[in-house]
Amino acid sequence: MASVEEIRRALEVVIDPELHRSIVELDMVRAIEPGEDGTVGVTVTLTTAGCPIRGHFQSAVREAVMALPGVRAVNVSFDVMDEAQKAALRQALGRSELPQGALAAVQNIVCIGSGKGGVGKSTLTVNLAAALAADGKRVGVLDADVWGYSIPRMLGLGAERPAISAERKIIPLRAGEIRVISIGFFVEEDAAVVWRGPMLHKALKQFLEDVEWGALDFLLIDLPPGTGDVSMTLAQLLPQATFVITTTPQPAAQRVARRSAEMAHKVSLEIAGVIENMAGFVTPSGERYAIFGEGGGQALADELDVPLLARVPLTMALREQSDAGVPLVVADPDDPAAQAIRQAARGLVALAPPPAVIEREPVGFVLPMV
Ligand SMILES: Nc1ncnc2c1ncn2[C@@H]1O[C@H](COP(=O)(O)OP(=O)(O)O)[C@@H](O)[C@H]1O
Ligand SMILES: [Mg+2]
Repeated sequence: MASVEEIRRALEVVIDPELHRSIVELDMVRAIEPGEDGTVGVTVTLTTAGCPIRGHFQSAVREAVMALPGVRAVNVSFDVMDEAQKAALRQALGRSELPQGALAAVQNIVCIGSGKGGVGKSTLTVNLAAALAADGKRVGVLDADVWGYSIPRMLGLGAERPAISAERKIIPLRAGEIRVISIGFFVEEDAAVVWRGPMLHKALKQFLEDVEWGALDFLLIDLPPGTGDVSMTLAQLLPQATFVITTTPQPAAQRVARRSAEMAHKVSLEIAGVIENMAGFVTPSGERYAIFGEGGGQALADELDVPLLARVPLTMALREQSDAGVPLVVADPDDPAAQAIRQAARGLVALAPPPAVIEREPVGFVLPMV
């Protein structure tokens, strides 16, 4: 019969699919009880009671232990970590969470990502924000592209600095109804900011917890291109966020975009959908040119099994309005690119889960007194 130590070693192959480490290393194996009759009891401790990966642990633990000599049956049971154990786990993982309730009044957090730069992420972020605001949603934009921030320019902001409230919170600037925070508000124009990992983590954390976002229906986050530190940090801080992937239509771009999808999977962020940008150009006489090829957005959406939220054509006005600092969906809502982006915004609304709590006081009638 295998010893407790041998069983523990065998369990090193059981990996927590969310944390990507062995349950032994994570100290999640609470008890190992080899019995006389070849039955082994293993207790695994979970981070939450309703842990969706329970089934995975059940079969992986059984398989690993059954492979040992003399084992005839394996009973897997579960318990749940207490607060101290959870804190120890967070410490071991080097994760720092946001304080409870930091974004409690934000209903939906949507990260706009892409495999590479220049595909229109920032353009889409500001126009989606403006489209949502035009539909009466309360919207915030967090520019997390700390190296290549362009949100201030695209929303005509930047001369002003955000004020600090009496509670020492940063008050976002406003572009119309949209609340906006960007690193660009805090550094000299075009200053190169050199971020080391911990600094970056701290800055992003501060943008989430020390900013007076208030009650929002949507917080849109413009990610830097690629799958680097920022995306990982945000994924850790915002497990509730969803991810929208931007790609141009050519197959090569789609392959690059897929890497960001893989990253999202790895950090367990849900992918809400794909937006294909620069999908063709229509001349004033009505001829259509597929300048960046065709079909990449749909192919990526099919592969990821998520909706294609929109195909946004190339239009001169979209570029001009980005440079002018007024989103196209505000300046010319009928432009074909604006229409496509408004459609994507409606898609985001449709995909958003219904609000978990009633935010406003129920409105009642005052009965007339006679
Ligand atoms: N559909 C489009 N039609 C015309 N110009 C676009 C379109 N999408 C983006 N652009 C322009 O392309 C450039 C890059 O877009 P940007 O949003 O800055 O990309 P990213 O944030 O992904 O680096 C900008 O000048 C922008 O105005
Ligand atoms: Mg950008």
